[in-house]
Amino acid sequence: MSKFNRRSFISSILGVGGIAAAGSIFYPGLSNLNSSEKVRESKVSIKAGNITEFEINSARIIEFRKTPLILIRKEDGKFAALAAICTHVGCNCIVQYRKDVKQIICASDKEVYDLKGRNISGISSKPLDEYSVQVINDEVVITT
Ligand code: FES
Repeated sequence: MSKFNRRSFISSILGVGGIAAAGSIFYPGLSNLNSSEKVRESKVSIKAGNITEFEINSARIIEFRKTPLILIRKEDGKFAALAAICTHVGCNCIVQYRKDVKQIICASDKEVYDLKGRNISGISSKPLDEYSVQVINDEVVITT
């Protein structure tokens, strides 16, 4: 191989390597940008109703994107929204709010959750998913 050909061969190898190195540096950042865009796009909000429709220390089941949620107005007037399907494997029961003890229970009484969706007792260790709730112009808005 002549000196010129060897030099151009090494240059082209370094050029390809440089492009690959640049790609490996910049692609993850661009890839993360795309996934954060997807996260932003996938956020969905619904209006659950006017704040006056919700009694203190009460709950109701509402449908959110074909998934039941339990929306609880706590004693302090604030709201909590949680996935309403019990996490006990294989049953898929809808949970209920017990205002006397301020806990969420499964109809079968095996699982008990606090108002953050954490298991207090029962077999499952998986919490109920929690959703964001805001009151905007007296409207109760739930966001994924
Ligand atoms: S679905 Fe079985 S304990 Fe809740």
